[in-house]
Amino acid sequence: MSIRVSPIGKDLAEKGPSRPVSTAEERVMRAAIRLARRGIGTTHPNPRVGALVLRDGEVVGRGFHARAGEPHAEARALEEAGGRARGGTLVSTLEPCAHQGRTPPCVDAILGSGIRRVVLGMRDPNPLVDGRGVGALRAAGVEVIEGVLNASCRDLNLPYLKFLATGLPWVTLKSMVSLDGRVASESGDSRGMGGAAEVKLCHRLRAGQDAVLVGIGTVLADDPELTVRLVRGRNPLRIVLDSHLRVPPGSRLVQSAARVPLLVATVSEDRCLTDALVRRGVRVWRFERDATGRVPLRPLFKRLAEEGELSILVEGGPTVHTALLREGLADRVAIGLAPLILGGTKAPTWTRDLGRARLDEALEVDSLVMRRVGRDLWIEGSLRTAGGRGV
Ligand SMILES: NC(=O)c1ccc[n+]([C@@H]2O[C@H](COP(=O)([O-])OP(=O)(O)OC[C@H]3O[C@@H](n4cnc5c(N)ncnc54)[C@H](OP(=O)(O)O)[C@@H]3O)[C@@H](O)[C@H]2O)c1
Repeated sequence: MSIRVSPIGKDLAEKGPSRPVSTAEERVMRAAIRLARRGIGTTHPNPRVGALVLRDGEVVGRGFHARAGEPHAEARALEEAGGRARGGTLVSTLEPCAHQGRTPPCVDAILGSGIRRVVLGMRDPNPLVDGRGVGALRAAGVEVIEGVLNASCRDLNLPYLKFLATGLPWVTLKSMVSLDGRVASESGDSRGMGGAAEVKLCHRLRAGQDAVLVGIGTVLADDPELTVRLVRGRNPLRIVLDSHLRVPPGSRLVQSAARVPLLVATVSEDRCLTDALVRRGVRVWRFERDATGRVPLRPLFKRLAEEGELSILVEGGPTVHTALLREGLADRVAIGLAPLILGGTKAPTWTRDLGRARLDEALEVDSLVMRRVGRDLWIEGSLRTAGGRGV
């Protein structure tokens, strides 16, 4: 996908709705957000959208966007409502499109249905839409109310919004650590650090992401498969950072490459190793080495985002997490805390040198959420410097 990168219009961000809305309409917007969430993990590179049609206070149509190329949420809700949409209200988490894409413009469907009032969570900053949908509706005499539950509607689409603002994917760093912050024991063991519920949660997280990424260090130490097995859901694209193509042909990742997509990012020019991987169904992307001789992260992430991989879960070791934090490419952290104390002088912690010696230079994490997951604790939050903050 290639979309012109434009700054996000902040005009409506965090403002209230443009006109008074009824609590019923807010309630319906909440339902639209819940519907939109059903598209998490499958809509990429399109946004997650939910919509409902109201007639005389009753919901007569529901829709969400499931997959690029399939009908948009508004079109599905209007189809379900049929003739009952006439004179009614459409509530949608995102501005409807007014252009012909892989599906017809939603604005045409709305105008054709006889809808009188449209209640929206946010404008779509995609330059192909950005105000055109709202403009076309108003020009046709439809009342449009914007900004209802705006912050929640934006939260639905942080990867999409970050991509449009920066051209980069939304990146979550995930790590399982002991109470003393170690990701592995001195002998390098880390498998089994998380309890059964944490492992299941990790599979659920994967299913909601476009891609999951590790460094070759994790592949060599743990031989992970990085698939979704313990919950229902699709497998994300699996990515390995591997400067010298050391990924073993017998690893679980390579062995499963014909079934679940695997991408190896490298700086190696070794044709023999490359061909051997390609023969096994692995995609190999070669880059010019970065200043440290490794895979350059920013060009890799830009290319991934352009190909529609807008959300990436990083399940690597300390080297990859540290590199992403140092380059300002991480947006969110998700840390599992196991009730274990490992100690040791060589047992690794989940980050290494971030080049920040003083307390007032520490990276800050906002909006912390903490919960119990089986025998473990789970802590998530967004980095204050995250690309998504201005989004
Ligand atoms: N508890 C947990 O959640 C958890 C999760 C994962 C791993 N671990 C543990 O962590 C340890 C492995 O740590 P690790 O740091 O070696 O693993 P890692 O961060 O997954 O892999 C690091 C390797 O990635 C490669 N790489 C390529 N380009 C890079 C770039 N731009 N920036 C950074 N790395 C790049 C480098 O090797 P090349 O230059 O040769 O390509 C580097 O050595 C193991 O003990 C494992 O069990 C624990």
